[in-house]
Amino acid sequence: MKALRRAVITGTGMSLPDHVVTNQDLEKIVDTTDEWIITRTGIRERRQIQEGQTLLELSIPAAKQAIANANLKPEEIDLIIFASFTPDYQVPATACMLQDRLGCIHAAAFDLQAACTGFVYASSVAMQFIATGNCNHVLVIGGDVTTRILDFTDRNSCVLFGDGVGAAVFSPAQGDEGAFDSLLGAVGSGAEHIMIPVGGSARRPTEEAIRNREHYLKINGKEVFKFSTKIVGDIIDEMLTRNNLTLDDVALIIPHQANIRILESAAKRFNCPIEKFYVNIDRYGNTVAASIPMALHEALAEGRIKEGDIILLIGFGGGLTYGIMPIRWGKYTCPTC
Ligand SMILES: CC(C)(COP(=O)(O)OP(=O)(O)OC[C@H]1O[C@@H](n2cnc3c(N)ncnc32)[C@H](O)[C@@H]1OP(=O)(O)O)[C@@H](O)C(=O)NCCC(=O)NCCS
Repeated sequence: MKALRRAVITGTGMSLPDHVVTNQDLEKIVDTTDEWIITRTGIRERRQIQEGQTLLELSIPAAKQAIANANLKPEEIDLIIFASFTPDYQVPATACMLQDRLGCIHAAAFDLQAACTGFVYASSVAMQFIATGNCNHVLVIGGDVTTRILDFTDRNSCVLFGDGVGAAVFSPAQGDEGAFDSLLGAVGSGAEHIMIPVGGSARRPTEEAIRNREHYLKINGKEVFKFSTKIVGDIIDEMLTRNNLTLDDVALIIPHQANIRILESAAKRFNCPIEKFYVNIDRYGNTVAASIPMALHEALAEGRIKEGDIILLIGFGGGLTYGIMPIRWGKYTCPTC
């Protein structure tokens, strides 16, 4: 095994479906209001794929953009990790189909399922492969088309989610830039709080199950909210403490975008302005595994991250899972943003 080395982000990309669904659009199909959605979640609109579109198709432009921004050819990618809880198929992995469509002929490819923490889990796996010298360039995708698994008669869940894909290329660092730690965790006792009861190998999609709408995503929003509000603060605390840092050393937090109130609560706990947290939930809703890489890409486009900055990627959600990764930013500034 080669010496341990740091992984740095050298390319990013994102893609969204064109179709916009506003809160007013949802008012027409479910018992909700624009005012409730904005005040309880911070969401104004989200994107939705249309009939005939797939997660694979949506992910291709984001992946190509990330590889081009990293100044790499597709055949230089050693590994593709696709984080998603809405893959096109249970088999084959979306990562394998993407490998083919991108022409990444030398890349191994697999899917990873850690729901809304998927991108942080996948980035942490990429970090280990690069640290050991097993891989040089790893393409990490976070992508979900959750509108495909939503029950549009259930107001508790259908207003919260949108579709999108974000991508990042991790490569070996030259100096002290890059991801310098990662903390992943799970509280499996809360697994049933975010669940699709039917359609996996445990329960087949019988006519009765489908009639009962059990093939759709079910969430226990209250419980997930309680978990998320506490865990975000706890993992920021732990990460800062074990690296002898304070929040003043952190330039920007790129959190999973589930609910603006979760981020406001974390800002309050640390007595810091909400501006320390990058927020775009108003435009996209909760895009699950895509939310962090999309937010990262947009933060770069807005010039909010510069060389030497320390940023924190923070994920939390289904599983229940959580994860945090601190990165000392390198030279990458996103030429196509
Ligand atoms: C879902 C969530 C926005 C609900 O916010 P909340 O303040 O906790 O709201 P509550 O669950 O207390 O519900 C309050 C009321 O609003 C109602 N309500 C729920 N969804 C509604 C909607 N879309 N429109 C209008 N009213 C709604 C509820 O029925 C409830 O009514 P009741 O008091 O008469 O029973 C919030 O809990 C949340 O964001 N949870 C995490 C979401 C999640 O799981 N994300 C995925 C993983 S990260």
